[in-house]
Amino acid sequence: MNNDSIVAKIDALKKAKGAVILVHNYQLGEIQDIADFVGDSLELSQKAAATRAKLIVFCGVHFMAETAAIIAPGSKVVLPDLHAGCPMADMITADGLRRMKEQLPGRPVVCYVNSTAEVKAESDICCTSANAVKVVESLPDEEVIFVPDQYLGYYVQQQTGKRIHFWPGYCPTHARILPEHILSLKAEHPAAMAMVHPECRPEVAAVADAVLSTGGMIRYAKQPEIKEFIVGTEMGIIHRLRKENPGKKFYPVSEQAVCPNMKLITLDKVLYSLETEAHEVTVSEEVAEKAKRAIERMLEIA
Ligand code: 13P
Ligand code: SF4
Repeated sequence: MNNDSIVAKIDALKKAKGAVILVHNYQLGEIQDIADFVGDSLELSQKAAATRAKLIVFCGVHFMAETAAIIAPGSKVVLPDLHAGCPMADMITADGLRRMKEQLPGRPVVCYVNSTAEVKAESDICCTSANAVKVVESLPDEEVIFVPDQYLGYYVQQQTGKRIHFWPGYCPTHARILPEHILSLKAEHPAAMAMVHPECRPEVAAVADAVLSTGGMIRYAKQPEIKEFIVGTEMGIIHRLRKENPGKKFYPVSEQAVCPNMKLITLDKVLYSLETEAHEVTVSEEVAEKAKRAIERMLEIA
């Protein structure tokens, strides 16, 4: 079957089943093009919380589908490829976090949504890259445990002036982006603004003009007076940036900034998920109840 016929089948089945297709900004272009909604992690959680759809086909990675399953208990959530995980989320376990809490009693735990439901269940409040600074600022405490992304934690520490206790997690895709990538593109395109994701190393953020979530980058690129951008995050976002801003120029920092997990979702897998309702993502009631509190606390602030 060619892509056009797969897309036509997806469209028809989606309507027949009352399903909604939620797609992250890093997905392949052809997946973004069949979405009901494309967004960053925060926007996708907000959409999941608001939907009445019986079936959510989540095109992203496992923790995102899991978050949707927790906050949309009335919907069945399927992930077209269950191998689409997030190595950063796998760098911390609930046991590891419990041990950290024992060593640092009394400090609230802020958990980046790039984590498993079990880790969220051990946390006081979640955050995404779009609201991490706001979430930490909202807490009365001057010291906070922040897991699992050390680089986002470092950025939050810089922005809030609070003392952050880090977990040494990181995103392997963003860690491949180096300051020299930004600096050489800046030399080549002096009028371009460099926007980078806060999962990048601090030395990369230091040479950027703006540090933004993927949704923040989409909004930043719409400013009429800026025409050229250096983009320091996963390559998939370039498709949406170019599509929504014809005539503007976007320079990806590195061809190596690709998240292999995000790319596991393909059109034929989406069609299979719609046809068979495979592969459902579920969370035990006990874990979901605790994790939901941390996610909802974040959504109240956002
Ligand atoms: P955003 O929340 O900015 O979309 O980022 C999610 C992510 O996984 C970044 O690597
Ligand atoms: Fe995880 Fe990094 Fe992929 Fe985002 S880009 S899903 S943090 S591995």
